[in-house]
Amino acid sequence: MRSAKYFGAGAASEVISLIDVPVPAPGPGQVLIRVGAVGLNPVDVKIRAAAEDFGVIEYSDRPGWDVAGVVTEVGAGVSSWRPGDRVFALAGFPVAAQTLADYAVVGAADLASVPSDWSIAQAGAAPVVALTAWQALEAARVEPGQRVLVLGGAGGVGHLTVQLAKARGAEVIATAGPAKHELVRSWGADLVVDYRDEAALEEISRVDAVIVTVSDVTPPRQSIGDGTAVITITALSEEQRTLLADWGAAPVERILVHADGTQLAEIADIADDGGLTVHLDSEFPLERLADAQERVETGRVTGKVVVVVDSAVR
Ligand SMILES: NC(=O)c1ccc[n+]([C@@H]2O[C@H](COP(=O)([O-])OP(=O)(O)OC[C@H]3O[C@@H](n4cnc5c(N)ncnc54)[C@H](OP(=O)(O)O)[C@@H]3O)[C@@H](O)[C@H]2O)c1
Repeated sequence: MRSAKYFGAGAASEVISLIDVPVPAPGPGQVLIRVGAVGLNPVDVKIRAAAEDFGVIEYSDRPGWDVAGVVTEVGAGVSSWRPGDRVFALAGFPVAAQTLADYAVVGAADLASVPSDWSIAQAGAAPVVALTAWQALEAARVEPGQRVLVLGGAGGVGHLTVQLAKARGAEVIATAGPAKHELVRSWGADLVVDYRDEAALEEISRVDAVIVTVSDVTPPRQSIGDGTAVITITALSEEQRTLLADWGAAPVERILVHADGTQLAEIADIADDGGLTVHLDSEFPLERLADAQERVETGRVTGKVVVVVDSAVR
């Protein structure tokens, strides 16, 4: 079968190739998936450029964590999945999973059924960002009626954070570039503010929670009040943390997404109820993985970049 491989650190166009490897066999508690689509994330390009472990995130020269496809074989002890099931997963993260290939082995506990209205491409694009959004909202303990500010509402994580916060019954304010405002509103944001418009940002009054999905951004002063929960998925400096504490925010929590098939199934239920869509910025075939990674590297992605490994998998 084909598998993507990195030949050392460097630019996408220089180090990515497809190689031929044997189809893996599922071990106990695992399933083998014929891969339809795999989402790309900023972590993929950062890891490729460095060619080394990234904190606790394991490096492999055979990439891929997101996956959607069809089960072809189950390992010993797996009773929850059968050949033919349409499934998606964040496979094993932060342990390397090698999903950018024709077949991938995934732990049965990481899997959930693909929502019936989603394409395999949408499902393959969703797991990292959907689980990050979900786990950030859990960390913030967002409840119905609360006000949530999503810094970066148009990217992969942001566009699902907006929708999942809405699904929790929150009032949602999001930041995005002006060209993306209509789209972010269509995902349920009650108010969208241009992230370059400082005056408009300063008009955002106290919120209960801020989810920070972009780097090097401090939440606007007026949005922070007594006990505002600030959850970040990117680095926040000591200086920013001190400032937020001085303004009354609860201690900032930085989260790292983890694989969780149960949470993914809850997210899929919301999608099945019509409350969640995955917006695809662009789709690339596996042969064009380098181009797909370059698109992610622009930092201008709206929703998700996805690699379609096999368009016959539906
Ligand atoms: N901790 C974790 O577990 C975890 C999980 C997933 C991702 N992450 C990290 O979280 C970050 C976001 O990931 P992602 O997949 O959502 O990235 P992404 O899809 O590549 O984000 C791109 C989006 O960010 C917007 N953007 C850029 N600067 C902005 C700003 N100052 N304010 C508001 N929006 C801005 C861009 O809009 P414009 O084109 O209009 O500029 C674009 O739509 C990355 O650093 C990623 O590595 C962490």
